[in-house]
Amino acid sequence: MTRQLHFGLHPYGVGGPGSDGLWKDPRVAKNSSVDIDYYIDWAKLAERGLFDAFFIVDSQFITADYPPHYLNRLEPLTLLSAVATHTKNIGLVATASSTYNSPFNLARRVSSLDHISHGRAGWNVVTSFDSQVSKNFGLDEHLDYATRYGRAQEFVEVARGLWDSYEDDAFPADVAAGVFLDRSKLHPLNHVGEHFKVAGPLNLSRSKQGQPVIFQSGVSEEGRTLAAHTAEGIFAPGESFESAREHYSDVKARAAALGRNPDHIVILPNGAPVVAETDEAARARSREIYEEDNDFDRKLGFLGRAFGAYDFRQHDLDAPFPDLSHLTERGGRRGIELVNRARENGWTLRQTVEAASQYKPGPFTGSPATVANEIQRWFENGALDGLNLAFRVRDELENFIDTVVPILQQRGLYRREYESDTLRGNLGLPFPVNRYTQQREAAAAAVPASDLVDA
Ligand SMILES: Cc1cc2nc3c(=O)[nH]c(=O)nc-3n(C[C@H](O)[C@H](O)[C@H](O)COP(=O)(O)O)c2cc1C
Repeated sequence: MTRQLHFGLHPYGVGGPGSDGLWKDPRVAKNSSVDIDYYIDWAKLAERGLFDAFFIVDSQFITADYPPHYLNRLEPLTLLSAVATHTKNIGLVATASSTYNSPFNLARRVSSLDHISHGRAGWNVVTSFDSQVSKNFGLDEHLDYATRYGRAQEFVEVARGLWDSYEDDAFPADVAAGVFLDRSKLHPLNHVGEHFKVAGPLNLSRSKQGQPVIFQSGVSEEGRTLAAHTAEGIFAPGESFESAREHYSDVKARAAALGRNPDHIVILPNGAPVVAETDEAARARSREIYEEDNDFDRKLGFLGRAFGAYDFRQHDLDAPFPDLSHLTERGGRRGIELVNRARENGWTLRQTVEAASQYKPGPFTGSPATVANEIQRWFENGALDGLNLAFRVRDELENFIDTVVPILQQRGLYRREYESDTLRGNLGLPFPVNRYTQQREAAAAAVPASDLVDA
């Protein structure tokens, strides 16, 4: 079969970053972000569109300046457990922080979702962008980059170790023989590392897809290294074809250098298509959306996120942009980029806020054919394996499924039915054979045939 596109959907309820004004739209229920029926409805619709994954972003720190969806939202694994019982094929990917969880607990929760969904769970490993989140977990300061990402890599290794606690055939449940568990197929982990000591075993068996799928979304140097080592799926920024292609080729090359098959990492940049009957109408709609969300005070308030939730309102808007680079060291790297741009251009605070949020139509804006062409161009020229899509309202998701998806199907670029009922199966990822089963089989294969003959 020719290479196929993969789509994820990430719902933003009443509006996330860049769609802060969404809650005012009469088509948007004001409780969407905490209404399980909203998530179930969108997941089922995405399943009708044969999407690979339903992806829930998350954070654990807010101020009143955060976007509406951030202010009041459901915990991802809890939410997805409910969605699992109303869907059959779509993957369910929960964001969870490796900085503010412990591996045993999180491995168990993600694996539980994997069982509840019959093999459709994924975990988006983040190290937490908001530096002030530390204060919700008993730490005065967020861990620095190197520690956070070192911990993340070890965290994933431990989780994967725990997910192999049982071999696939560990439970014969043989009533006649009185054997529920085959004790030789249960393995403790006994992990002792730089960040964790975890004895194991996990009290949960492997699921239908073997192990949950690991996603990653960091874009810094450290984030890319983590992705190359551990990720099977990547949610990437998708600002332009050039930046997406640079990220795509870089991460795949890093993975190949580590001896991994780059085809076993599915890269999905963000995409927020604006589709209308004509290119002109779509461009007009894109401008209209920008104006709806374009609120200077709100943008000024949220600018502080990358600076440890710093309140920029205390500064004169028309004075030079204050150099607060020391506040960006532990959070996301975007803050320092902004400081540098402001310094190079001699911007005031007002100019910096405006420059950080200038109008630019998204790359997937146009008629259904134009949007399909653009997706195809990115797909065939090394910028993506698919897209992690966001839509403002239900009608727009439905319109994408009814107008753009059929074009991609006609071109042989997108499935006409699900290949599998597991996330791994649909993403074309290999089944991870249990490490102990693998060792046993390797040891058996290494025994010379003569030794196997009964004396
Ligand atoms: C598409 C995308 C989705 C992300 N989703 C989340 C999220 O839900 N929660 C979170 O804490 N960080 C999220 N991040 C942030 C990254 O995981 C990472 O923490 C952040 O980008 C800072 O690290 P970096 O400098 O390595 O990129 C996301 C990033 C991208 C590009």
